[in-house]
Amino acid sequence: MSRDASPRHLIRLSDWSKSEIENLLELSLRLKRRGDRKSLNGRTVGLLFFRPSLRTRTSFEAAVHQLGGHTINLNAASDFWELEEQEGTVMDGAAPEHIKDAASVLSRYASALAIRPAPDGRSWNVDRRDEKIRAWASHAQVPVINMESALWHPLQALADMMTLREHLGDLTSRRLAITWTHSPTEVSASVTNSLMQAAARAGMEVRVAHPPGFELDEAVLDETRSLAAEAGGSVESGLGLEEGLRGAHVVYARSWQSLEDYGNPTLGASRRGRHKDWSIDERRLALGDDAYLMHAMPVRRNLEVSDAVLDGPRNLMVEQAENRLHSQKALLSMLLQD
Ligand code: CP
Repeated sequence: MSRDASPRHLIRLSDWSKSEIENLLELSLRLKRRGDRKSLNGRTVGLLFFRPSLRTRTSFEAAVHQLGGHTINLNAASDFWELEEQEGTVMDGAAPEHIKDAASVLSRYASALAIRPAPDGRSWNVDRRDEKIRAWASHAQVPVINMESALWHPLQALADMMTLREHLGDLTSRRLAITWTHSPTEVSASVTNSLMQAAARAGMEVRVAHPPGFELDEAVLDETRSLAAEAGGSVESGLGLEEGLRGAHVVYARSWQSLEDYGNPTLGASRRGRHKDWSIDERRLALGDDAYLMHAMPVRRNLEVSDAVLDGPRNLMVEQAENRLHSQKALLSMLLQD
């Protein structure tokens, strides 16, 4: 097994160049059309989940197995020791193992490690640093793949970009409306952040609609504006629901929690509860330009999006979920090629 001293990681898509992302998408589409090479023959990939997952876990396991490798799947709740992540600390608390030791040991067993960390959920100023996934990346001697951190969900954005390419072709100047939807539970903005940046970088016109108090992280928005300017795209945020949907080629529905109430679930629930009308039905979808509906799932039916839209002909969400499989195969093939 090869262990590079400084392996390539995927923490967020914007760490990779535009041409690398382009190659990744081309390979994803090719693997979907023509099937697989056994490019992971005999290789092991470690999957570590600190939060639940349906799609990410199953698509990752399926991808590795279909490429001829196998996975070791570990859940933090039951399968390994609590981990300390701070450098130089006296480990006299609950965690008996340091992340740097766990990462080094797992690097001896696996050719890559895919991690879904759990943010602490107390302070956005702390969680937005994504220290847990970055600690894995700095201590592992094999590639680390982010399976959704506080800030980013690069795997979902890859599958989403692949789906957009399949259905719209050239994405330049196509209008993507990302709209906040009501959910009774706290949902991270990771999907929105990653998609918004990937779409802006592809030259799309990105329009983000949300109620007051659900503004996205300002530094992420600033970076997205720069990426859009470089690519000839645009990004507008803070639009009203129907204003955001008008003329959209794609409506992407997604909830996210307010950063103003981060760490305070009671205030967060109260703020979300004031915007129960933020949902997508047939009338609202029709404000777009023959728009497709996308959603990363899990989706709350008849709360975020109506049954009529989800069971209708413009819904791409299951294709997005399928494309997780193909795009993760492409990613693993590229990261682990000898
Ligand atoms: N979209 C997504 O990441 O789904 P899971 O949380 O079920 O993995």
